[in-house]
Amino acid sequence: MNCRSLLSLIFLTFFLSTSLQAFQTPYPLEVIPKPVSYTAGEGSFELSGQSVIYLSEESKEMHFLGEYVADLIHSATWMKHSVQKLSSAEQDTNARIVLDLDSDIEIDHPEGYLLEVTPKEVRISAPTTTGLFYGVQTLRQLFPPAIEHKLPSLASNNIDWSIPVIRIKDYPRFEYRGMHLDVARHFFPVEFVKKYIELLAMHKMNRFHWHLTEDQGWRIEIKKYPKLTKVGAWRDSTLIGHYGSDRYDNVPYGGYYTREEIKEVVKYAAERHITIIPEIELPGHSSAALAAYPQFGCFEKEYHVQSTWGVFEDIYCPKEETFNFLEDVLTEVMELFPSEYIHIGGDEAPKVQWEESEVAQKIMQREGLKDEHELQSYFVQRIEQFLNQHGRQIIGWDEILEGGLAPRATVMSWRGEKGGIEAAKMGHDVIMTPWDSNYFDHYQADPETEPLAIGGFTTLKDVYFYDPIPDELTDEEARYVLGSQGNVWTEYIHSGDKVEYMAYPRATALAEVLWTPVENKNWLEFQTRLQSHFKRLDILGVNYAEHYKR
Ligand code: ACM
Repeated sequence: MNCRSLLSLIFLTFFLSTSLQAFQTPYPLEVIPKPVSYTAGEGSFELSGQSVIYLSEESKEMHFLGEYVADLIHSATWMKHSVQKLSSAEQDTNARIVLDLDSDIEIDHPEGYLLEVTPKEVRISAPTTTGLFYGVQTLRQLFPPAIEHKLPSLASNNIDWSIPVIRIKDYPRFEYRGMHLDVARHFFPVEFVKKYIELLAMHKMNRFHWHLTEDQGWRIEIKKYPKLTKVGAWRDSTLIGHYGSDRYDNVPYGGYYTREEIKEVVKYAAERHITIIPEIELPGHSSAALAAYPQFGCFEKEYHVQSTWGVFEDIYCPKEETFNFLEDVLTEVMELFPSEYIHIGGDEAPKVQWEESEVAQKIMQREGLKDEHELQSYFVQRIEQFLNQHGRQIIGWDEILEGGLAPRATVMSWRGEKGGIEAAKMGHDVIMTPWDSNYFDHYQADPETEPLAIGGFTTLKDVYFYDPIPDELTDEEARYVLGSQGNVWTEYIHSGDKVEYMAYPRATALAEVLWTPVENKNWLEFQTRLQSHFKRLDILGVNYAEHYKR
């Protein structure tokens, strides 16, 4: 080989190795959801007791972020980092962490971020504090799982807290990345709800759908109607075992969130860039409200806060007094929840009582409605108009398509994807929560070996392979699919531990569906990343299901 070809070979080898470095993934990035792209380099950043966290600008949100990082590090390592404004950092020689709010960075996405680790510095840059928050969540997962300790463990001295040099560019695939929790069939205290929210934040989810009212309990304090919680939050007894068992525990059960508690949870979520979408069910699933205020039903009869599960015939009567009541309730709900979306339910509302009610039939005649489905549509549209007048938008379960969709409603498709497809084709926004893949109250393994669940069968793999964009939609129509959500209905989930067992790790798979580009997803590799993620969840005290633990 002559000198020139030797030189070309050396050059080619050098070129290939450097350019390959940009595409290879030599460093096993154990982050869930998997980022869009990254390149690893040489060396590492060493966390030290003298490191400082710098903020590019002062604001309440930036300060919260700085303290969030400082707390994370301090509680696991004892290393105390001060949080300072960036301008004082120029001469700083120690390793530092910089949170840089920068509208000019090369990320064209409001939730995106750039995370650059060099031996000298960790720098997270983003056009918004939301992007910075997600960069912080990735940084958190670049540290060993032991970073999750809330008190330094005895072993913390021996842990290598360094992070390899890396450059990560990241942004989400979908704008709506949600998890739901039914706190009505069973009630979960504020501390648990906060833990649930913090876990969503760690997985870069941004919506918490809080299902607050049901046949079996009303869980939100409403000042104007105190009986909603005095009466409606309590049931006499609860079904034991599976639906149809006909065995009851005869133990009074209930609970509710005060306004102050709700404000506290809303604030906690907002600090973690999560919007809480409250759900106030109407016109069905309203036994508990009617037990408290029977005058808003169609019949003079006794209503009960239900002790068993299923669908009940009790339904709000579509008369003016009822609309006044619901508008009062929603006014207080809007005071507590800044979310643009208010979920108004709309599912599983049997029409028998409307068929038998003179009042309901007269209203149908007055409004020229041809059947009770159109009456439900009238009901939902009245509520939509009211909420729109206050700058809010409704989300409803896919039954709100029946009898005519309210003009600006977003549809949450749960009975499969059919409702979502229909709504998207009509130009309505859609959130996909099809029961096959997104109902985390389903069994996740052989029911013979699992704790009691409602039924169904949805494995971690089913969730991982779910894609919220149905083949039936054109690219144009697909733009109406805002994202997706996992639902945790709690008929058979009586404790926070069991919520976690049902939700995790399935929620981690959904997080990746919602964040990561399809071409980056890899089921086998996800399971590998999950192993170190399990260690993280162990330290966080999350009672996840262990079927995929190796
Ligand atoms: C639902 O699962 N009933 C929305």
